[in-house]
Amino acid sequence: MNKFKKKAAVLLSAVMLSSGLAYSPAVSLPSADAAPSEYKSAFDQKVIKRFQAERSIEHIAYLSEEIGPRVTGTEAEQEAADYIKNLLNSYGYEVEEQEFAIPDRMSGILETVDGNEVQVNIPSGSGSTDTDGITGLLFDAGLGYPEDFSEKAEGKIALISRGEFSFAEKTQNAVEAGAVGVLIYNNAADQPPLNMSLGDYESPVPLAGLTMESGQALLEDVAAEEKEVTFAVERLEDATSTNIIASKSPKHVDNPEIVHVTAHFDSVPYAPGANDNASGTSVVLELARILKSYPVDKELRFAFFGAEEIGLVGSEHYVSELSEDEVSRSIGNFNLDMVGTNWEEASSIYMNTLDGQANTVTESAEAAAERIGTSSPLTLYQRGASDHVSFYEGGIDAVNFIRREPETANLEPYYHTPDDLIQYISEERLQEIGELVGAAVYELIRK
Ligand code: BES
Ligand code: ZN
Repeated sequence: MNKFKKKAAVLLSAVMLSSGLAYSPAVSLPSADAAPSEYKSAFDQKVIKRFQAERSIEHIAYLSEEIGPRVTGTEAEQEAADYIKNLLNSYGYEVEEQEFAIPDRMSGILETVDGNEVQVNIPSGSGSTDTDGITGLLFDAGLGYPEDFSEKAEGKIALISRGEFSFAEKTQNAVEAGAVGVLIYNNAADQPPLNMSLGDYESPVPLAGLTMESGQALLEDVAAEEKEVTFAVERLEDATSTNIIASKSPKHVDNPEIVHVTAHFDSVPYAPGANDNASGTSVVLELARILKSYPVDKELRFAFFGAEEIGLVGSEHYVSELSEDEVSRSIGNFNLDMVGTNWEEASSIYMNTLDGQANTVTESAEAAAERIGTSSPLTLYQRGASDHVSFYEGGIDAVNFIRREPETANLEPYYHTPDDLIQYISEERLQEIGELVGAAVYELIRK
């Protein structure tokens, strides 16, 4: 039995003795009638008494409203990094800013002659323009079959609906008909601007994905009225993103074990990212604040990642920078991503692991939930799709804590949309996950 399991067992028997409860190994952990508060241990109290979800809410307000969408490689993402760095400094940490290169990114602007900006998503195979872009009339090309084009498409910007065949073929047909730009709009409502994958196809003309609503508005108000639009696309090269790292080392312990507590702070385009993932960021910030002053016998690292949404690039960089010795001393990664939704159905705290198996981190969280009486059930689930993947691949036990609907594992409907707003955040749920992860982490690292 490792030290952690020993402590948990001792503690559980103490709870059983004092409460007269019979201990049965929990399968679905924990129940609402778990340990009443008077049995909470002194070390758990050190976390619970100090964790203030209202501080987390302030961070979410800053990140999602003051800054807004924090797309990888943009100034907004860097502003979020600066905000996190300044806070950690104010808590008394020495903070490391870890910059890394990211792949080239496409950026675009589409504006009507009336000055209305249309939301666009530029795929990586799009052509570019000069900074002024191209200005021209729209051509309604329906679904974009060859027969949907006429000689009138020549020199115009083709407006095409998604559906029936590939984005690359639609674009090729437009180019063959002489179009100088292509806009493809979604065929489903209430979605962010279309995110297209072109395979290996490289478009010679600028190309953008639009929402269905934008496509319809352009057809009615712009194409039919023969008004012009201006469309500019730029390839951003040599861009970088940043991780922010604060650590706390034990005094008088050589080569201590390491616990990594992490969250990503970037978001997808047009999403304010209140839940994905200002929520995780805000909880990890609050944990960093409260754990600063306590003596520890392990090393605690708080790492905030950029560039998660383009494929876990920040966390991969962070793990790749760990020495072999640091990896072997790493006992676990608590990764918080989407922990604050108030969507009622997301009543369970999922612990996503890559193999779907329990590990040091899930066990420590289950023990903490049992001790402190976490009221949401914990569900062990097999899923990647967040920064815990990078730790797992580096050989470190890792868990993504994320709220989902029990049984279905559904996420809230606001995920990756402009509706990922602070109004859909639950302060109580931030408090719950903060106490749970805080108690688990503190139990692992405390002196
Ligand atoms: N916040 C999500 C995490 C997530 C986990 C979403 C599990 C859904 C299920 C994360 O930011 C995200 O959107 N991940 C991407 C994949 C990633 C490798 C870019 C996704 O799931 O599409
Ligand atoms: Zn996320």
